[in-house]
Amino acid sequence: MGTTKVSAILGERTGDGVRVIGVGNAPAEGLKQGVVVDIDRAAGSVRKAVSDAERMAGVVMKVYNVGVAGEHIRSMNSRGVVGIPSHDHEITRDDVNRTLTAGRSFALPADREILHTLPQQYIVDDQGGIQEPCGMYGSRLEARVHVVTASKHALDNVAKTLDNSRLEIGELVLEPLASSHAVLTDDEREIGVMLVDIGGGTTDVMIYNEGGVLASGVIGIGGNNITADVAYGLRTAMKSAEEIKIEHGCALSAMVDDNERIEVPGIGFRETKQVGKQVLSAIIEPRVTELFSLINDQINKNDFKRALGAGVVLTGGSSMLFGARELAEQIFDLPVRVGTPIGVQGLSEVVNHPMYATGVGLLLHSDTSEEGRLQRTSSQVWWRQSVAQVRKAIASII
Ligand SMILES: Nc1ncnc2c1ncn2[C@@H]1O[C@H](COP(=O)(O)OP(=O)(O)OP(=O)(O)O)[C@@H](O)[C@H]1O
Ligand SMILES: [Mg+2]
Repeated sequence: MGTTKVSAILGERTGDGVRVIGVGNAPAEGLKQGVVVDIDRAAGSVRKAVSDAERMAGVVMKVYNVGVAGEHIRSMNSRGVVGIPSHDHEITRDDVNRTLTAGRSFALPADREILHTLPQQYIVDDQGGIQEPCGMYGSRLEARVHVVTASKHALDNVAKTLDNSRLEIGELVLEPLASSHAVLTDDEREIGVMLVDIGGGTTDVMIYNEGGVLASGVIGIGGNNITADVAYGLRTAMKSAEEIKIEHGCALSAMVDDNERIEVPGIGFRETKQVGKQVLSAIIEPRVTELFSLINDQINKNDFKRALGAGVVLTGGSSMLFGARELAEQIFDLPVRVGTPIGVQGLSEVVNHPMYATGVGLLLHSDTSEEGRLQRTSSQVWWRQSVAQVRKAIASII
C-alpha cells in the first residue's frame, strides 16, 4: 500500500522460484505517506487491486504478505548473548532463536511493536562474521541484530483495512526490506549497498553490509513533493505537473538542452504557455538534491560510506526521474544504478518497473526464512491477535 497506488501482485510457487500470474493496481485512497488515514477508502483500494489481480490470474488469492511503511518506523542495532549448554557445545536452532530473542529484549513504549529482528552477524566465542552458527561448537553465542519497530496504532489501522477486505494474512514486511528482495543481488548485500526506494510520499533507505542490514530509515519526501513544486513553480494543475514531470522533468539541469521548450497548461481559463526545460529542471533539481543530501548527511555522520562497496541502488517510481541517477552519483560520490525487480518468472515484463519493487519483493519474501519463523513467535502473533480482536469488535457491533 503506497502513497500513490495500491498494487496487488499474485504469484505461485514453482519448482525453482515464484511465477507472477496476476497484477492489479488501484489509485491509493485513504493513505498518506504510507500510513492508513481512512480505513474504508483504503480498504476499497485494496479490494480493487486484489480483485483485478485475481481476475488476471483466474485464481483467488490464498495468503498475502503486506508491506509496512511510514515515518512511524524506527530502527536500531542491538545485540543478544547466550551461553551454550555445556553437554555438547553444539549450537542448535533453538540457541540461535534464544540469542535473537535476547537481542530484541529491551523496554519498548506501550504503543510500539517490534516488526523485524534482522540478524547482521553471529559471534561464536571470539569468532565474528558468522552468518550461520548452527552446528558450530562454542560456549558463547552472540547475535548482532537490526531491530525495526512500528507504531501499534498504525499497524492496527492496516489490520482493520485488510480485515474489511476479507483477506487472509501472511506476513508483515517493512517495505524497503521487501524492495531489497526484488532489486538487490546477494553480492551487493555482501559487499555493502544502500537501497533508496523513492516513492510518491516517502523515501525508504536500507543499508546492507556483509549480508545483513546495517541501518534503515524513512524520509518524508517523495515524487509528490516534486510534482507539487512543479505545479507551484510553473503555475499549473497537479495533474498537468505530474505529466510534465514524467515526460520532460530532469533532476540535473546540466543534462538539459538550453533551447528546448515545453507547453504548460494554465490553471482555470488561463492560456497555455511555453517554458524552457531549464526552468523545469531548475524547479526539480533543488528538491531531489535536498532528498539525496539528507541521506548523504546521515551516512557521513554514521561513517557508513566505507561500508558501501557496491554503491547505491535507486528504486521506487521516482527513481525513473530522468537525471536522478546522475545527480545521486554526484551527491553520494558512489556508483549508482536504478533497480527494477528481478528474480520472478511469468508476467515479469508487466512488473518490470521500479514502482513494483516492493510488491514483487513481498512476493519473494520467504515464509521459511529464519526471520519469518521468528516473526510468528512475536509481532505476527500479536498481529493475528489484533486482527482477531478487530473481527470480534466488528462482530459485536453487528
Ligand atoms: N517515469 C517517471 N519519472 C518520474 N517520476 C515517476 C515516473 N514514474 C513514476 N514516477 C513517480 O513515482 C511516484 C510513485 O512511485 P511509487 O509507485 O514507487 O510510490 P508509492 O509506493 O505509491 O508511494 P510510497 O512508497 O511513497 O508510499 C510518483 O510520485 C510518480 O510521479
Ligand atoms: Mg512505495
